[in-house]
Amino acid sequence: MKKLAFLALALPLTATAVEFVDNSTPDIAKVELGKLLFHDKILSGNKNISCATCHHALADTGDGLSLPIGEGGVGLGVTRDTGTGADAVHERVPRNAPPVFMLGSTEVTRIFHDGRIEGDPTYPSGFKSPAGGDLPNNLENIVAVQAMFPVTSSAEMAGQSGENPVADATSVGNLAGPGGVWELLADRLRAIPEYEARFNAVFGISAADITYAHAANAIAAFEIDAWRADNSPWDAYKAGNYQAFSKDEQKGKKLFFGKAGCSECHSGEIFSDMEFHAIAMPQIGPGKGHGIGDIDGNGVGREDFGRGGETGVQNDMYAFRTPILRNVALTAPYGHAGAYDTLEEVVRHHLDPVASLWAYDCHSQPVMPSRADLDAIDCVVMDSSELVQKIADAASDYEPVSLSDKQVDQLVAFLHTLTDKGNIDLRSDVPRSVPSGLTLAE
Ligand code: HEC
Ligand code: HEC
Repeated sequence: MKKLAFLALALPLTATAVEFVDNSTPDIAKVELGKLLFHDKILSGNKNISCATCHHALADTGDGLSLPIGEGGVGLGVTRDTGTGADAVHERVPRNAPPVFMLGSTEVTRIFHDGRIEGDPTYPSGFKSPAGGDLPNNLENIVAVQAMFPVTSSAEMAGQSGENPVADATSVGNLAGPGGVWELLADRLRAIPEYEARFNAVFGISAADITYAHAANAIAAFEIDAWRADNSPWDAYKAGNYQAFSKDEQKGKKLFFGKAGCSECHSGEIFSDMEFHAIAMPQIGPGKGHGIGDIDGNGVGREDFGRGGETGVQNDMYAFRTPILRNVALTAPYGHAGAYDTLEEVVRHHLDPVASLWAYDCHSQPVMPSRADLDAIDCVVMDSSELVQKIADAASDYEPVSLSDKQVDQLVAFLHTLTDKGNIDLRSDVPRSVPSGLTLAE
């Protein structure tokens, strides 16, 4: 018995092969500060929404919705609705809120569905981003770069011009200048004694030197530490514990890396090549204003060109970044617009993407509160054969694969092995209160 116990110690059940930008040695005070900021509505123009509203610990770092309901919405998770009266949401967020798992992995080189944030040494900050040369130079990693932007989005956090100074700065594109979004938010933080003390303890700075970039670095430290997902049956299996997998899971793994071709794109420790592929994923929702389908007659298209909207390159049209699959069993709905509610549906989509796109019925998706307004505006693209044809024509990145129902089940079983059990219950990632004194609810 003694000997066995010793062996069990010597052979850890899991051993991560993943490298993290924080070298797996998080600065606890910084993580704690980031946790508070992530949940504090003080960072939104109208003080009515936080990062956590769309990336909530109780919804596995997403919101459970196909398309988030941003600034002006009421409620949390799948019960969130678009609100009423003058404060109701003015615009619907066009893309699914991705999970925040595993973003600290050194393999994460691009952020967002269209990869509009990526490392680029030609910029002084080291990153290409929507802020161009205005991005501060002291952002510690790509996750921190990302945290600079939700606060500058009218639909997500800033609000509409005329409602508050942050929204006004957003509407004229003043992010980094005097009176810009980032300065206004830093002003709010330095006026709160608890934040002043915490920024001082973490960064050794006085109130006057607090910038929003410091806040972004702390938020990233929290996301990276709290939401690593590298302690799954898959990690155990890789470390040599073959008992970690059932027969079906093993068969699913074989298919994933073999006949089904999944690992051609879902590769590496994060199960993403960080490249862009057009796989005819259905687009529900208002789109990114690209292309045609302008039903309001205001010159704004209803399409989402994905990477093509960023680069203008034909080959990038309707291509989206390969999603990270760690914890994917927890993070429905799926696709860049949340078109599929279950893992099985989205896996089946891959088997014959173009046929699946044409067969997609936007109006008969399982009813969630978030879907109440789909009939009104959000099925525009999928109701137009002209628009669907464009997405279908672009889908050159995938060969149809033929799999039996059993094999699809096995693939889904394998995807479940990517779940880190430590991420199933994330209640402890929600603070009890935040320094601004604003409520955590909604
Ligand atoms: C209104 C909902 C909403 C709010 C609030 C929000 N996000 Fe997001 N988040 C999204 C959506 C939608 C995307 C995807 C956008 C895209 O790809 O174009 C996203 C993307 C991200 C990503 C990129 C993940 C990846 O895999 O590329 C991270 C990280 C993230 N958000 C963190 C944050 C942080 C930090 C905040 C607060 C400062 C925040 N979000 C506030 C909806 C939201
Ligand atoms: C040609 C590259 C490619 C191949 C091969 C591929 N995928 Fe994907 N996969 C993607 C892209 C790109 C998306 C996201 C597309 C979008 O949202 O528009 C995606 C989405 C997914 C999603 C949804 C994840 C989420 O968070 O939304 C799952 C699950 C998935 N793929 C599993 C698989 C499986 C299983 C296979 C093998 C049968 C496979 N993929 C093969 C590129 C690929």
